[in-house]
Amino acid sequence: MNFDLLVWRQTAGAAPGKMIKYRAEGISPDTSFLEMLDIVNEGLLARGEEPISFDSDCREGICGSCGFVINGRAHGPDLGTATCQLHMRRFKDGEEITVEPWRARAFPVIKDLVVDRTAFDRIVAAGGYISVNTGSAPEANSILVPHQDQEASMDAAACIACGACVAACKNASAHLYVGAKVSHLTLLPQGKPESAKRALSMLRQADAEGFGSCSNEGECEAVCPKQISIRNIARMVREYSRATLLGTDS
Ligand code: SF4
Ligand code: FES
Repeated sequence: MNFDLLVWRQTAGAAPGKMIKYRAEGISPDTSFLEMLDIVNEGLLARGEEPISFDSDCREGICGSCGFVINGRAHGPDLGTATCQLHMRRFKDGEEITVEPWRARAFPVIKDLVVDRTAFDRIVAAGGYISVNTGSAPEANSILVPHQDQEASMDAAACIACGACVAACKNASAHLYVGAKVSHLTLLPQGKPESAKRALSMLRQADAEGFGSCSNEGECEAVCPKQISIRNIARMVREYSRATLLGTDS
């Protein structure tokens, strides 16, 4: 298969960027999107040109490192699929494919398709943990957790912090990400005591980082590679409201 790629190139955060066209030729349909970029980069290196910078690590949808806007959609055309899990058979032979970085003020471009997502780390540092004393490791069955709470908590914990939800949102909101982190802790007995304060702290940090608010568009859920539900946003907002009602402000 052959493709024309229109790729965002930007040498550094402060430098202006632009779309540059590259030809990807002789690509097997079973090549992953990242492998296809690897092949393009080998060609660029062979010609003495600067390769396209992009993030990746596990290449199996679990680490959250990868992610571009492909043909206008975060992580590309497939539902529940990270960029590294996308294959070229999903595109038409000869198709022109646009490849851009996540666009959000809180995710500044570092180079080409690489953005700085450390804002997510600072949101977690603001409260995305359990600090109450839970004692020594208890026998697994000694704290009973309703099955539906276990399932909902594990579903929320599947978030890989890729940032696609932010990239897809017209407000560049991080509510789905924060909602997932708040939910996975709040739904478990050890996480409940601090849940209101946690939601307040994390949302305040998200505001400080420059993420927008949520206007219930649902774009985040639609592009999330782990199909995190926007019900987690509702749970987070309930905890936030409880914090403001209770005056849980320290
Ligand atoms: S909620 Fe989904 S899209 Fe957002 S960071 Fe987590 S895995 Fe990525
Ligand atoms: S490289 Fe790890 S999720 Fe894509």
